[in-house]
Amino acid sequence: MNRIRAIVFDLYGTLFDVHSVAAQAEAFFPGRGRELSLLWRQKQLEYTWLRSLMGRYASFEQVTDDALVFACNALGLPLDAARRQTLGDAYLQLRPFPEVPATLQSLNRQGLPLAILSNGSVRSIDQVVRHAGLLDRFAHLISVEAVGIFKPHDRAYELGEQHLGLPRSSILFVSSNAWDAAGAHGFGYRVCWVDRQGQAFDELGERPDHVVRGIDEIPPLLA
Ligand code: LAC
Repeated sequence: MNRIRAIVFDLYGTLFDVHSVAAQAEAFFPGRGRELSLLWRQKQLEYTWLRSLMGRYASFEQVTDDALVFACNALGLPLDAARRQTLGDAYLQLRPFPEVPATLQSLNRQGLPLAILSNGSVRSIDQVVRHAGLLDRFAHLISVEAVGIFKPHDRAYELGEQHLGLPRSSILFVSSNAWDAAGAHGFGYRVCWVDRQGQAFDELGERPDHVVRGIDEIPPLLA
């Protein structure tokens, strides 16, 4: 097996907690914040997959906004323009998971190039990572915007290999999203699934090479 020569991370849900928007949602809709956050995220993902099938790409911000409107309509929550804007902005200021900053630093010390490959737009990836003060940790921030189709399409995964200039079998792809881990494994990356909550893995005919509870378990895997 090839040695791991670079690491590519998924962004949303893997390095950053998408449910950090629940607090703002709760402030607007008391007692419904978590429910809104969960449906919003689920619809956002569905819309990326549906748009890919439809061949009608729209930016991740657009898809995120569309999903918010749907989720509020479905749950009967009144979404005015100001709330819509504030919740959309909250998605650009997500919190990293607690172990993330220190682990990225220790991976940097190990000398491995780190990248993000996300369904997010160039702008949203930049803003989220910049807001957390983690921009310096990454050699590449890669958005699927360049190919106009979302993960888990192979054309999206190819971008990681192209930017790093390394064969896919020497790249470790890290994601908490089981469907993304499955897609990346099917493409040919070595895959680490971050299962923070003891979830079931998706049944898509692929299995990750490694399963960890947090990204702080990754450095020992590379030794
Ligand atoms: C991403 C989403 C899918 O960052 O988690 O690509």
